[in-house]
Amino acid sequence: TGGVLPIPDAWSGYLAQAQEMATTRVILFALVNIPLLAIVLNVLRQLIIPRSKTDPPLVFHWIPIVGSTIEYGNNPMKFFVACQEKYGDVFTFILLGRKVTVCLGPKGNNFVLGGKSTVFNAEDAYTHLTTPVFGRDVVYDVPNEVFMEQKKIHNFRAYVGMIEQEVEEFIASDPSFSTYQQNDITAWGAIETVNALSEITILTASRTLQGSEVRENLNKSFAQTYTDLDGGFTSINFMFPNLPLESYRKRDRAQKKMSEFYVDIIKKRRVGDSGQREHDMIAALLDQKYRSGRPLKDHEIAHIMIALLMAGQHTSSATGSWALLHLADRQDVADALYQEQIKHFGINGQPGKFRPLNYEDLKELPILDSIIRETLRVHPPIHSILRAVRDDVPIPPSLAAPSSKSGSGTYIVPKGTAVLASPLFAQMDPKIWKNASKWEPNRWNDPEGVAMLALKEYTDEGGETIDFGFGAVSKGTDSPYQPFGAGRHRCIGEQFAYLQLGTILATLVRKMEFKIPTGVPEHNYHTMITMPKTPRNVHYRRRHFD
Ligand code: HEM
Repeated sequence: TGGVLPIPDAWSGYLAQAQEMATTRVILFALVNIPLLAIVLNVLRQLIIPRSKTDPPLVFHWIPIVGSTIEYGNNPMKFFVACQEKYGDVFTFILLGRKVTVCLGPKGNNFVLGGKSTVFNAEDAYTHLTTPVFGRDVVYDVPNEVFMEQKKIHNFRAYVGMIEQEVEEFIASDPSFSTYQQNDITAWGAIETVNALSEITILTASRTLQGSEVRENLNKSFAQTYTDLDGGFTSINFMFPNLPLESYRKRDRAQKKMSEFYVDIIKKRRVGDSGQREHDMIAALLDQKYRSGRPLKDHEIAHIMIALLMAGQHTSSATGSWALLHLADRQDVADALYQEQIKHFGINGQPGKFRPLNYEDLKELPILDSIIRETLRVHPPIHSILRAVRDDVPIPPSLAAPSSKSGSGTYIVPKGTAVLASPLFAQMDPKIWKNASKWEPNRWNDPEGVAMLALKEYTDEGGETIDFGFGAVSKGTDSPYQPFGAGRHRCIGEQFAYLQLGTILATLVRKMEFKIPTGVPEHNYHTMITMPKTPRNVHYRRRHFD
């Protein structure tokens, strides 16, 4: 009595076990209930707490931080249509914890793309994705005035012949066209469309814009470096700029290696001959100076070259792939395209004999032109364009305003929010375009049609023109057709892309007919650039003997 009873071993075992079970229960309880609580609070906050009248409507979402990321990421078009029905043309959604205010339609595009670049800022929206890939001191790593002085694409008339030659050599030698190479006009072969067009795109871009040293190195270590760098240009990198993962380390090593590769070429060119290479971008950038008179430094030229390579590769190869998939699906259009080639380039009615393409002719081919335009309408490679606002910005009431019940207010996008314009949405809007979802190149040949009106607004022919330092372009910010963006950040590769795609498609259709038994695939939105889902094989058969 009075003493402390010793606890038998079995008891202490029970006690420890009980303690362990209690801890496990607490952990389990927390694991289940904390997220549940967060969800409940998040829902209550959206339903009960009154929002500021100036805030655009917030898209309802269950899970905090995740927000509407999954719906948007899986199918932005479907997401925008559903949100427009509920909230109108302007609404905010949560993209991995970040607020993004979407502004739909031509007025939305105009608001986002036509605003001052100091307020609607592209650098803030993109630099975390682009600078690790392109490198420092160019594009979105510098103030826009500096980038404006860097972004110029020069004379490329001579490119057409080079592109034609590259495509012909590819068809004649690449294993994907082995059936073609058998010189048999009855046999059908098949290509994986995106793989083939990616190869053709990089071969043709490097032969022309990038220059002979890049073209010569394509089959060596350059290809692997390019692949590693490209692995840093994905939606995941956009969401999380730096994770401790191997793909990020590979990206950084590849950036360094690629930069050194170009700097090496530049150094050799500075001391050696460049007479043979007057048409490529490195030659042009070596001659270029900032307004201050300072020439570009080696690493700046190198990083601009990387930016051009990355910006042009997936956009052009995706467009070429979609165009080929549709041509394979629409025999009538493919036939019309072939006839157009015979009419302009055929030699005395001899089957399979054409004179070479050239720059002047390429501008006078309405069917080829309409095929590229329509492909870019239905499948713009960039479906969402982002800016980050650096001030509180009022939304013009003609675009969207709070309902009259809550007073005649104005929505305000708060400083720091991202704003989003979607060329895809306006280009597929059934209220604007007849049979909007149908790929119908003919719509571009109707002088009275909406397509022509939209195009007039988008090109120099109509609307307001403005010179950003690389020739007069249309402001075009309120056109419902903007596959190359609009305003200050409008694509600088537009003319090159037309020329590249036109030459590739014309060369292919001269030589082959196509079909696609599985039909044109749907969009895969999981990649940064909208790609066709698999299967995406196109079948081909040669038209003529060699
Ligand atoms: C910008 C589309 C090909 C270089 C853009 C933008 C779009 C676009 C929509 C605007 C992005 C924004 O405002 O945030 C396309 C499409 C292409 C294509 C659809 C092909 C079919 C090319 C090519 C090059 C290129 C071939 C280079 C040779 C650039 C550059 C920018 C840009 C450097 C940034 C311009 C700036 O922010 O000021 N492109 N592009 N693009 N594009 Fe393209």
